[in-house]
Formats: sequence, structure tokens, C-alpha cells
Amino acid sequence: MAASAKTLTVANRSLNGDWTVVLPRRGRHKKHLPTIRSQEQQQPWVPTDVETDPIRTSKLIQKMQICMKKIESSSFYRTLLDQIQTPEILHCLHRVLGSESKMQMVIYGIGSIESYEPPRLQLSLAVLMKRKFSWIGDIEVFDPILSATESRVLEALGCSVLSVNEQGHRRAIKPTMFFMPHCEAELYDNLLHANWGVELLNRVVLFGNSFKTYEQHISEFKNSAIVGSAKRILSIRPFTREFRINTVSDDYFGAFHDSSWHFFGPVLETELRSIKF
Ligand SMILES: C[S@@+](CC[C@H](N)C(=O)[O-])C[C@H]1O[C@@H](n2cnc3c(N)ncnc32)[C@H](O)[C@@H]1O
Repeated sequence: MAASAKTLTVANRSLNGDWTVVLPRRGRHKKHLPTIRSQEQQQPWVPTDVETDPIRTSKLIQKMQICMKKIESSSFYRTLLDQIQTPEILHCLHRVLGSESKMQMVIYGIGSIESYEPPRLQLSLAVLMKRKFSWIGDIEVFDPILSATESRVLEALGCSVLSVNEQGHRRAIKPTMFFMPHCEAELYDNLLHANWGVELLNRVVLFGNSFKTYEQHISEFKNSAIVGSAKRILSIRPFTREFRINTVSDDYFGAFHDSSWHFFGPVLETELRSIKF
């Protein structure tokens, strides 16, 4: 699929199921590209195929189990666990948790776990992290392309599937890890918009496309339309601590390249309010 005309990147899926990030070309035709709606337009959602298929469901559960085993025994996973347990990241996580013992996880934009391996690897990582760390609470998932069968499998894995398309506008009233692998810039921007305040941003952990890379691409390819849809990504950069994910081997490149943990630490509301959009 293609990102909104206004987003920084246009993501294309190659035949082997990997998303590649393609920078927008000048004069690219915009009219067929989907856009992400504003908060007011959040809508109830149901999968287009209402029926679940028991054979497809059990095959997909099996595929997910194989995928989770593969990740669990990988040096990619061991490296990621070691990274999470470094003093720098532990410090950031404790700050987000504050006095709470758990942070919930919200997964946006996982993609089709039935059709492609990168979404399966991404979901496997999220579920394994929840099993490993007692401080990770319930997992909620949303992607408008999920089928009824995929929703059933997500539930079998202990996740709940949202029935509303929030367009990324979830406010972090409690500590929340947003797991948004390879989403469009506009979805990250919507999330930042909904949480544009010191307290809210301090309760957010974001796993997603590297904001540093967005900034580098934008300074390289000056384009006001792109800057417009990534404006909060760019504005929050000075208050962001970012830790890159090490994909370790080619097996995990497709699912996790250019991904980072992000923590946000503005101190004063005035620092945010002085930013003009
Ligand atoms: C570039 S794809 C990435 C898919 C997958 N994570 C991967 O890396 O292969 C972006 C995904 O975001 C989903 N998406 C679009 N709008 C969304 C929304 N409002 N909430 C959640 N996901 C959304 C799309 O359906 C698509 O599956």
C-alpha cells in the first residue's frame, strides 16, 4: 500500500513481503493515495469478512507459533532483550512507568499476519516481550486491514482487537507502549498530536520508524508537503531519546529495519506551546 500523499514516506511491499521505504518524487500523483482521518472522524470498525474460517485460523495459529519459536531462539531477540535491559533504557522505562507497575501496549499498523512474514515477526516480538516482562500489561491491536480470521488469532494470542479506528489518536492517560512497526509518518504524527503535553508525552514509549531518519530525509529532500505531515515528528526531536533496533541478521531486516525505541522528555509546557504549526 502507499502512504498518504502528505506523509514522509511511501511504503511499498515487495514480492517477498518486505516493506521498503521510498522517498516521494516531485509531482507524484496524489489522488489515489489514502489519507488518515482526523480525530473527529474516528469510526466503528469491523473486518470486511465477518465469517472466520476454522481451518485458516488453526493454520495461522501454527504459523504464529513457529514464528515465535524462531524469534525466541534468535540472536536478534537476545540482542533486543539485552538492549531493553541497559541502564539507559531501564531508566527511561522507569520514568514512563512512574508509580504504576504496568504499561499497556497498543499495536497500530501491524499489517496482515496471514499474508506476510514481517507482520508475523513483529507481532511475535510484541507477544514475547509481554510474556517476558511483567511490567507489560494488556495488548490492544488495530489495523483496518485485519480479517476476521486474523482478529480471532490475535485474540487466541491474548490480544484484544479494537472495534474503533482511532486513527492513532490514543491519549496516554496511563503509561503506554505504542508498538507501531513501519507505520506511515501521519500515524506517528497523529499520536504525537493527541499527546502534545508534558505529562502525556512522558507516559509514552514508542516503537516505530526512526524519527532521526525522518529528520535526516527531510533535511536532504526539502519538501514542504512532507514537512507538513511530519511536523510533530520533527518538532519533538529535540526532546526525544532514541535507541536504534539492531536487526542483527538479514532474517529480521525486513521486519525491523530503521526501527527505534523513542522516549519523550519535554520538561515545560511552554517548550511545547512555543512551537508553531
Ligand atoms: C506500511 S504498512 C506496515 C505493515 C507492517 N507493520 C509491516 O511492517 O509490514 C502500514 C500499516 O498501517 C496500517 N494503518 C493504516 N491506517 C491505520 C490506522 N488508522 N490505524 C492502525 N493502522 C493503520 C495499514 O493498514 C498498514 O497495514
